[in-house]
Amino acid sequence: MTDAIVAEGLTRVFNGSVRAVDGVSFSVTEGEIYGFLGPNGAGKTTTLSMLTAVLGLTSGHATVDGLDVTKHPHDLKQRIGLVFQESTADQDLTGRENLEVAAALFGVPLREAPKRIDYLLERLALADSADRLVKTYSGGMRRRLELAVGIIHSPRVLFLDEPTLGLDPQGRAGFWKIIGDLRKESGMTVFLTTHYLDEADGMCDRIAIIDHGKIAASGTPSELKDRVGGDVVTVRPLGTTGTLEAALRALPGVTSVAVQDGSFRVKCPSGETLIPKVVAAATGLGVSLAGVSLRRPSLDEVFLEFTGREFREDEGPTATDRAVFLTRFQDARRGRR
Ligand SMILES: Nc1ncnc2c1ncn2[C@@H]1O[C@H](COP(=O)(O)OP(=O)(O)OP(=O)(O)O)[C@@H](O)[C@H]1O
Ligand SMILES: [Mg+2]
Repeated sequence: MTDAIVAEGLTRVFNGSVRAVDGVSFSVTEGEIYGFLGPNGAGKTTTLSMLTAVLGLTSGHATVDGLDVTKHPHDLKQRIGLVFQESTADQDLTGRENLEVAAALFGVPLREAPKRIDYLLERLALADSADRLVKTYSGGMRRRLELAVGIIHSPRVLFLDEPTLGLDPQGRAGFWKIIGDLRKESGMTVFLTTHYLDEADGMCDRIAIIDHGKIAASGTPSELKDRVGGDVVTVRPLGTTGTLEAALRALPGVTSVAVQDGSFRVKCPSGETLIPKVVAAATGLGVSLAGVSLRRPSLDEVFLEFTGREFREDEGPTATDRAVFLTRFQDARRGRR
């Protein structure tokens, strides 16, 4: 497996003192969906901006699809796809016209462009509205058009900066379904940033939790959850429990047993394999059970564990943050870095 993205000691300092990204290292395998998860100001957009050659590095090193981001910014921009929260689509053009402009900008051969545009319009459920002005589009339609623009040139690596912010759950689910399908079809690598814990959990093969410019933890969603202390199996006995608590503590893999409202909360690395042992132990002691349930720890707990803070999903990126990024990108497109 080749690495699609490699970052080593990636650092960006603003105004001589703000260490927005502070020695970040990670790698993303080809075909992976890799998520950067963190609160406001954590350094997500700044990292993404450096990886896409929108913003220079203060120090460190990064390659994307084998290209050094500082040495080959122009080649890089032709090879990657980039979708951000702000609408970059031209409101006074139709969806199709926006795609035509993007195809020309990204050097899609003239002979292939119409076919590719039709394919994407169909794929992203925009075929019926392709010839309407973008200003008449709903938020979800605009997001899908942005995505179509971002992948018009079939990039090997796609970067998404909080692509579903502001979409309703249905819109978000639809968007991710498309990303997942496209990834499967083309083997494209996806790097995304998000505020949504559930989104990162469901979509990403691996996640890095970023806080104050540093990676606090990384791994697959279930690895991260395991590191928090594993699953919780809740055992609800019926009537007298006898020596059940001691028997639960003695089961292999059990790290703790807490009594809560007459139930036992049993922590262990793998709840699934523990449940049959719990049932066997209870049966052996003649204790009847009202129920046994399994809960995997959520990414909320992971975030709390590794940053010492609660995750606040309601604080979306600020308008200024967005404006800064958009300006940077437009400048970069014009070749001013
Ligand atoms: N152009 C800039 N000049 C000065 N400081 C900046 C600039 N861009 C970002 N910062 C600062 O760097 C830090 C990281 O910002 P960044 O935009 O990367 O965070 P983020 O994780 O994307 O946050 P959000 O979730 O709000 O989008 C913040 O403290 C921010 O204020
Ligand atoms: Mg951001």
